Amino acid sequence: MKWTFGIIWFLYLSVCESMWLPDSVPAMYGEVQSPEYPQPYPPNLQEQWDLSVPEGYQIRLTFTHMDIEASPGCYYDALTVLYNGKVLGRFCGHENSADGHHPGNHPILSPGNKLTLIFQTDNNNPERHQNVGFSAQYQAIDIDECSAPEPVDGSGPLCAQICLNILGSYICSCHHGYELRSDQRTCVLSCGGGIFDEPEGHLFSPGYPNSPPHSVSCQYIISVESGFIITLNFSDNFHIESVNTEQGTKCPYHWLQVTIPDREPIKLCGAKSPGLIVTNSNTVTLDYHTDEEGLSNGWSLDYSTHRVNCPPPGNVVKGRVTPNPTQFFYRDYIFVRCDQGYKLMMNGQEIESFSAMCQSNGQWHLPLPECHIIDCGEPQPLLNGGVTFLSGFQNQYRSVIQYHCNEPFYYFFGSLNVNFTCESDRKWRSNNDVVVSPLCIPVCGQPTNHITGIQRITGGSEAPENTIPWQVLLTISAGRGGGMVIANRWIMTAAHVVVHNNLPVSSETVHIYMGLNDVKTLDHPTAYAASIHIHPNYTNTNNLDFNNDIALIKLKDPITFNASIMPICLPEERDTYLTGLIGLVSGYGLTKNNSRLFSTNKLNYVLLPVVEDNICAKSITSVKDAGKDVPNLTNNMFCAGRPEGGKDSCQGDSGGPYALSDHGRFWAAGIVSWGVGCGEKGRYGVYTRVANYVGWIKKTMQEN
Ligand SMILES: *[C@@H]1O[C@H](CO)[C@@H](O)[C@H](O)[C@H]1NC(C)=O
Ligand SMILES: *[C@@H]1O[C@H](CO)[C@@H](O)[C@H](O)[C@H]1NC(C)=O
Ligand SMILES: *[C@@H]1O[C@H](CO)[C@@H](O)[C@H](O)[C@H]1NC(C)=O
Ligand SMILES: *[C@@H]1O[C@H](CO)[C@@H](O)[C@H](O)[C@H]1NC(C)=O
Ligand SMILES: *[C@@H]1O[C@H](CO)[C@@H](O)[C@H](O)[C@H]1NC(C)=O
Ligand SMILES: *[C@@H]1O[C@H](CO)[C@@H](O)[C@H](O)[C@H]1NC(C)=O
Repeated sequence: MKWTFGIIWFLYLSVCESMWLPDSVPAMYGEVQSPEYPQPYPPNLQEQWDLSVPEGYQIRLTFTHMDIEASPGCYYDALTVLYNGKVLGRFCGHENSADGHHPGNHPILSPGNKLTLIFQTDNNNPERHQNVGFSAQYQAIDIDECSAPEPVDGSGPLCAQICLNILGSYICSCHHGYELRSDQRTCVLSCGGGIFDEPEGHLFSPGYPNSPPHSVSCQYIISVESGFIITLNFSDNFHIESVNTEQGTKCPYHWLQVTIPDREPIKLCGAKSPGLIVTNSNTVTLDYHTDEEGLSNGWSLDYSTHRVNCPPPGNVVKGRVTPNPTQFFYRDYIFVRCDQGYKLMMNGQEIESFSAMCQSNGQWHLPLPECHIIDCGEPQPLLNGGVTFLSGFQNQYRSVIQYHCNEPFYYFFGSLNVNFTCESDRKWRSNNDVVVSPLCIPVCGQPTNHITGIQRITGGSEAPENTIPWQVLLTISAGRGGGMVIANRWIMTAAHVVVHNNLPVSSETVHIYMGLNDVKTLDHPTAYAASIHIHPNYTNTNNLDFNNDIALIKLKDPITFNASIMPICLPEERDTYLTGLIGLVSGYGLTKNNSRLFSTNKLNYVLLPVVEDNICAKSITSVKDAGKDVPNLTNNMFCAGRPEGGKDSCQGDSGGPYALSDHGRFWAAGIVSWGVGCGEKGRYGVYTRVANYVGWIKKTMQEN
C-alpha cells in the first residue's frame, strides 16, 4: 500500500515539475567537450562544467575520446573530475601515451547526482601542439540506495526492515505485524490497534501464533452501539507468562488486562484459555503488555455482540402482555391489553393504550400498567321511577340494574323487568333491544279509589277522595271553570272558559287547582298556565255558537302524578259514543236540589247516559220553537242526560270532564259545553265531542 502510494506521489511530482519548472529539471544525460573540439584546444584554459542529474541518481561519465597533453601527474594540462570538492580523477594523455593518466574505457561513476569537470591548460607551450582535448557523455544512473552499506555513523540501516529500490529513490516497508513509523524508515509492532466497532471480529496478539516480540504494549478497544453487549471467546491456544506464588497465579510482567466500564479490570495470564467472557457491556478495552524478558506466545479471540436482554416484564392482573417470547432484547416492544371490562391505568390515570420498549440499558422504558375494572357510573336517574341493583358492585362492569316506575301512577315503557347491564363500553345497556333508555309513562284514567254503590241522588253526589283525580278547577278573574288533566303539562277545557268577550284570557289570569275535593281547602294554585291554545275554528262571536268548544292549557311546570292527580285517557280517534253508555260528569259548579240552585264547594259528580242525537236535536228544536235563541247542535257535540231531568252539569262545570269508562279505564269523551237551564225535564247537557279532536290535541301538544 505504502509503496504504491509512493510511486504515485513520485510520478505526480515529476509531472508537476515538468510542467512548472521545465528549466530546473536536470537532464538525464548529456555531452561535454573541450573547447573547440575536435580542433586542438587553446592554451591558458580554466574551464569548469557542473553536471547534474535528478536527485536519487548517480552520474555515469564515459569518455568517447581523450587527447590531452600528457605530463607526469598531468602537471601542465589536466581534466579534473570532482564530486563535492573531492577529486575522483585527474586525467591527461591519450589512450596509448606512456605518461599521463587516462581513464581508458572505464566510466566514472559519481557517488551522487552531481559532478564537476575542470579543464586546465598552461601557456608554457612553445610548440604548437596538436592535442584535440576530450569528449565525454554522461547519463543518470539510478542509485540502488538499498544496497548501500550501513552508514558508519551508527544511524542504522536506511530501512529498518525492508528496503525497496525504485527509480531515483527507495521506499521502506515492514514485515507482517509491523507498520512503518512516521519517519518512513523504522517499523513498529502493529497491535491491530484502534477501535473495533463491527458487530464481530477477530483479535490476536502481535506475531500470533508465531513467537512474539518483546516489550509489547498494545491496546485494543472494542466499542459497539449501545444496546448491544460484547462476548469475548478466547481460543484454546492461550499463553501469557505467569508466576506461581503462594497466593496463586500472578501476572506481574506479562498480562492481558480486560477492562469493562464500572468494573474492576481483570488481568489474564497463564496457559489456560479464559474461554468465554460475557462482558454485559458495549465497550471493552484490552491492554496487552509484555516486558523485555520472558516468553508469552500470545492469544487470539473472536468477539461477538448481541442485543441487551431485558428482564421478563411480568404479568398484569386482568390483562395480557404480548408478545411472550422466552427472552426480550433491546428494541423489543411489549403491549398490554386489559380483559374485557377492564381499563388500562397508569399513575392513577387512564391510558388509551400501552407499549414499552426494551432500552439499551436492559430496562423497560415504562413500568407495566394496571388493569382496573371499568364502571358505568351512576345509572341515569329515571323520572317518576327508580333503579334497583340486582347484582354487581359499585356500578362496575357486569353489574345489573333494573329500572322501575312509580306505580300505579306510571308504567314502564316497553316491558317491565328489563335489566340493564354495565357493558365493556361503559354504558348501561338493556337486554331488550326495544328499550334503549328507560321511560316512565303516566297511567291514565285509572284512579286509585273508585266510586261505589252508585246512588240515584238528585243533582249528584260528592266525590270520594281520589276517585276523579283528573278533575281541574280553573279560576279566571272571578269566574270558575272546569278542566281535566290529560298529560303532565296539559289541561283540557272548553274554549268558552278561556275566551271572554271574544278574546282569549291572558294566561297569567288563569289559576289552576288539582287534587282538590273541597274548594275550601283551596290555598294557592297547584299550577300556572304557560300558554293557552284555543281551537282555531271556535268563533263564538254572539255567544250562540259553541262549535269547536275546546281549548288546551299548557302548564309552566310538569306535574308529578299521584293518587290525587292523575290524567284521564284521550279517546281513540273517532271513537264512538253509543247511546246509553253511562258517563261520569264532575265539577265544583252549581248543583240543583229540589229545583233550587246551590253553589257547592265540594267536588260533585253525576252519572249520565249518552243521549241519542235525534232526541237531543228535538229537545233543542223545541226550545227554539218556543222562540228562544239557542245555539245549533253540530257533529262536534253530543248530549247526555236523563229525560226526567234532575241531574245535569251546570254553568260552573263548564270545561269539566264527561268520562266514559272502558274496561276500568276512564277516557275523556266530552267537555262540558252548554245547555238550556240546569237539569230540567226534557233538557240535556251538550258536550264537545272530544273524539273529533284527537288529531288536533296531539298535534297541539307536540308542537308546543
Ligand atoms: C468459541 O469459539 C469456539 C472455537 O474457537 C467455538 O467452537 C465456540 O462455539 C465458540 N463459543 C461461542 C459461545 O461462540
Ligand atoms: C335480570 O337480572 C336478574 C339478576 O341478574 C335475573 O335473575 C333476571 O332473570 C334478569 N331478568 C331478565 C329479564 O333478564
Ligand atoms: C277549521 O275548519 C276548516 C273548514 O271547515 C277546516 O278545513 C279545518 O281543518 C278546521 N281546523 C281544524 C284545526 O280542525
Ligand atoms: C299529589 O301532588 C300534589 C302536587 O304535587 C300535592 O299537593 C298532593 O299533596 C299530592 N297528593 C298525594 C296524595 O300525594
Ligand atoms: C237538598 O235539599 C234537602 C232539603 O232541602 C237537603 O236535605 C239536602 O241535604 C240537599 N242536598 C244537597 C246535596 O245539598
Ligand atoms: C243555526 O243554523 C241555522 C241553519 O243552518 C242558521 O240559520 C242559524 O243562524 C244558526 N244559528 C246559530 C245561532 O248559529
